[in-house]
Amino acid sequence: MSSLLRSSSETAAPGAAFPRVRLRRLRRSPAMRRLVRETTLNPADFVYPLFVTHGRDVRLPIEPMPGQSQFSLDHLLAEAAEAAALGVSAVLLFGIPEHKDALGTEAYDPNGVIQEAVAAIKSAMPDLVVITDVCLCEYTDHGHCGVLTDDGVDNDATLELLARSAVSHADAGADVVAPSAMMDGQVAAIRRALDDAGHQETAVMAYASKAASAYYGPFRIAAESAPRSGDRRAYQMDGANAREALRELEQDAAEGADILMVKPALPYLDLVTRAREAFAHPIAAYNVSGEYAMLKAAAANGWIDERAAMLEMLTGIKRAGADIIITYFAKDAAKALRSAD
Ligand code: PBG
Ligand code: ZN
Repeated sequence: MSSLLRSSSETAAPGAAFPRVRLRRLRRSPAMRRLVRETTLNPADFVYPLFVTHGRDVRLPIEPMPGQSQFSLDHLLAEAAEAAALGVSAVLLFGIPEHKDALGTEAYDPNGVIQEAVAAIKSAMPDLVVITDVCLCEYTDHGHCGVLTDDGVDNDATLELLARSAVSHADAGADVVAPSAMMDGQVAAIRRALDDAGHQETAVMAYASKAASAYYGPFRIAAESAPRSGDRRAYQMDGANAREALRELEQDAAEGADILMVKPALPYLDLVTRAREAFAHPIAAYNVSGEYAMLKAAAANGWIDERAAMLEMLTGIKRAGADIIITYFAKDAAKALRSAD
């Protein structure tokens, strides 16, 4: 456009072209807003985390996570089927073992709660993607994510147990295994063990940038997995470090991760964006238990519009660059999207 056609105000301050430019024109009606919307949620974006416990006919509500429960296998199948019917692509399974011990043996027991759950879901719903969390903290009596010594969690001793767990999940039929222990080399160890066991087609979703976060509090109540002593700061990341997060992501990409995850989501949206820009891999963001609990608690008090705040939260995570959103809101959001404007 020639400068002759520009108003003097535009020439003086390019970009500040009011009154010719009026951004409100594209916000005038629901249809117009839909037309220009840049980010749209889809139920297929969601992964629904589920907690599996032993027994029959168990559906134990998780107090700090209203709407979520620990399920025995029978109820788990119904819950997974409901999510699938709503268009949710995948479930992420966490197991609550019968017995906990120092080495978390049920984590890699071929007849453990998670292995049985995977097999049952895959046989009932072969099209639903089944992802398993690979960690030891739900299974150890001390509640740490690996083998505990006087010196803290032993990285390399833990790798072997994580690899065994991942292979047992793949043997049961898991499509994707998701190591979350934050041990160095866990993706490489798992990839190698899967390949050696003939599971070349099993994908790895790496909890790559996982902060030591207070927002896991409700999950630890749900999974009965709080560390009995100390905390996880010697293996989970310091949330203050963005460059280090990129190194974690690079490391897991180099070790063969198929999907890279940033966790938690909301306090780390900058990392979601940086991961999106730095890698061509699918990027997952975990909208964790504390993020869910905060919204649920405010909504229960009548302090916030739950449906609108939920969709805004999930849209923000997707806009930041996540392809995949792991969220306890998966079912609720899928339902809300049916009537969203
Ligand atoms: C296991 C694991 C945790 C979460 C996912 N996998 C807990 C932790 O690391 O303490 C947290 C998920 C959530 O808060 O929703 N290591
Ligand atoms: Zn853990």
